[in-house]
Amino acid sequence: MTTAPKKLYIKTYGCQMNVYDSERMAEALGSQGYVSTDTAEDADMVLLNTCHIREKAAEKLYSDLGRLKPLKAARPNLKIGVAGCVAQAEGEEIVRRMPLVDLVVGPQNYHRLPEMEAAAHGGARVVDTDFPVEDKFDHLAARPKARRGPTAFLTVQEGCDKFCAFCVVPYTRGAEVSRPADRLLAEAQGLVEAGVREITLLGQNVNAWHGEIAGPLTGLAGLIGQLAQIDGLDRIRYTTSHPNDMDDALIEAHGSQAKLMPYLHLPVQSGSDRILKAMNRKHTAEAYLRLIERIRAARPDILLTSDFIVGFPGETDADFAETLALVAAVGYGAAYSFKYSARPGTPAAERAEVPVDVMDDRLQQLQALLTRQQKAAQEAMVGRTTTVLFEKPGRLDRQWGGKSEHLHAVHVPSANDLRGQILPVRITEAGPNSLAGELCL
Ligand code: SAH
Ligand code: SF4
Ligand code: F3S
Repeated sequence: MTTAPKKLYIKTYGCQMNVYDSERMAEALGSQGYVSTDTAEDADMVLLNTCHIREKAAEKLYSDLGRLKPLKAARPNLKIGVAGCVAQAEGEEIVRRMPLVDLVVGPQNYHRLPEMEAAAHGGARVVDTDFPVEDKFDHLAARPKARRGPTAFLTVQEGCDKFCAFCVVPYTRGAEVSRPADRLLAEAQGLVEAGVREITLLGQNVNAWHGEIAGPLTGLAGLIGQLAQIDGLDRIRYTTSHPNDMDDALIEAHGSQAKLMPYLHLPVQSGSDRILKAMNRKHTAEAYLRLIERIRAARPDILLTSDFIVGFPGETDADFAETLALVAAVGYGAAYSFKYSARPGTPAAERAEVPVDVMDDRLQQLQALLTRQQKAAQEAMVGRTTTVLFEKPGRLDRQWGGKSEHLHAVHVPSANDLRGQILPVRITEAGPNSLAGELCL
């Protein structure tokens, strides 16, 4: 007699690293007989992979747990786990506040998840938020068994030593750790063999990568150079970078590495030197602008994106005007902007806050400017030819969608299955969220 597989539902919040981690957790729990499902209703285990970056993100955990209560009441054997950055930050507190939670696992302990899952039964509850000495990646490298989609994330670096005054990441993800190049090359090779053609290298500070590597170049540029030699891997991206870690070799790689896509997410947070200093960003607005100039000299058509925080404690109208001026000077292809959210345990949380209506007003102004820039960047693509990596059918019949070199979503009419193909496309129209084009045959 064979037993039916158990079903696992994972909900992922937050950044791309959580997306990567969720895939690894699903693979790890596969060894316990779990297969993935798309709904909590028919799951034997629900895992919430959480984000702690802003208060709203963290609160989602508690509202989602509230919604799971009736499921747990109807099926007491349903296992409920909390992973990710809220798990790390709040640990035991989650178990205390939420009796329905069976296990809490911090990001550094995902390799222990199978034993934790086995231990969490009959009312036993398990919490693991240590920072262990062993390398979780030894147990958790991506080893795709089946063919998979044409794009993948690959975590090369985790954690952060920068301690920006607003940010929880150094506390939830721990100190900066780089994975060695040989492991990463092997993992990338495996992904390519499973059908992947584009890899996005991930790290909270990805360009601070300093893993062991052979060859003339060190740092992320060296790793990208070695990855570029893998046949069948056609596109490489990386995110998220800190301006202070953009070294000469990496800037130069944007000009010389054909597989490195012309797209860079380089968060600046603010355009005011006073606020940058209070944020502990350790660079000025001028230094950032000079850096952008050098990157554009290496790769003139690069599309730049950023993150901004408005209403950081102490931010005046004059400081905010400097942020708008920096945005106007750079010209971004897209950007995320957030209202400052005080996070317990961070230095900035002790400081007096900017009134919320002032934050709202600034956010609106900044987003209006960024939206105009995004629209201009999309419209500038019309008439140009670019390659697109096709990923899935479009919303309409006989339509295929994928990503351009500049990471624009592009769709084309086609009756053929284009999945996994990289084809030249002439862009014919710019919509609000995507570009329309036609295949160049
Ligand atoms: N490692 C990346 C950032 C990771 S967090 C970097 O250094 O740029 C992603 C973004 O969330 C940050 O760039 C910042 O803009 C925003 N963010 C982080 N903490 C925040 C807070 N307390 N309030 C509002 N936004 C925040
Ligand atoms: Fe957070 Fe990024 Fe600053 Fe690190 S560099 S503390 S991850 S914002
Ligand atoms: Fe959120 Fe943790 Fe990522 S706080 S943004 S899930 S590193």
